[in-house]
Amino acid sequence: MGKKGKLSASMMCTGLDKIFYYLAEFKEANLEYLHIDIMDGEFVPNFALGTDYVKSLRRITDIPFDFHFLVNNPLEKMSWFDIREGDQVAFHYENNDQIPKCLQYLKRLGADSLIAINPETDYKVLDPYLDDINGVLVMTVHPGFAGKKLIPYTIDKIKNMRDYYDSQGRDDIFLEADGNVSIKNAEKLYNAGAEVFVAGSSSLFKKGEEPVKNIIEEKRKVIGWQM
Ligand code: DX5
Ligand code: ZN
Repeated sequence: MGKKGKLSASMMCTGLDKIFYYLAEFKEANLEYLHIDIMDGEFVPNFALGTDYVKSLRRITDIPFDFHFLVNNPLEKMSWFDIREGDQVAFHYENNDQIPKCLQYLKRLGADSLIAINPETDYKVLDPYLDDINGVLVMTVHPGFAGKKLIPYTIDKIKNMRDYYDSQGRDDIFLEADGNVSIKNAEKLYNAGAEVFVAGSSSLFKKGEEPVKNIIEEKRKVIGWQM
């Protein structure tokens, strides 16, 4: 413990009417990442954030992107986006027979590489790739939609993963928690060993709880920041 957790604001939860307000506040607070969910209507039953939206977003902010590809054929679809050094990028393990190529592709671009796993996927399947990843994105809800309830066993899963990687001398592999990371859940996930926290409709974008500055501050308090 002791590391400061990082926040990644889930842009699929940001209403376009308030986007400039949010981006200015995130910049002011030095928020670490913008979480960019890419959904193709195939891997999950939903569409999210397209190529033009992501291009426009680059023009109005310099906060690094935390891409999350929830798509079939991530190797092809990652190439449709402008991924840069300083970004981090997660693609899913499930339904993906091109994992080594995806990792090579991201390495060439200089982005941090993560493999994402669904709640029911055993983390040991990632063992062959540990030398080539920076982190693992652990879904704490079933993927596809914002506003779902955290699946309690994913907290133990994160704890077990943290212990397992530490025992292999791999404390450099970080864990990102995605799905219903409310302030209350962030505290539990931080104590379990998560380091990056996707903040969506259950925290930063929770209706009626603005200003967002206060939510960032509250959330940071439970993920290792002395405020
Ligand atoms: C899916 C998304 C969602 C969501 C997170 O990959 O990243 O899980 O936006 O925010 P919540 O669950 O708080 O709405
Ligand atoms: Zn996501």
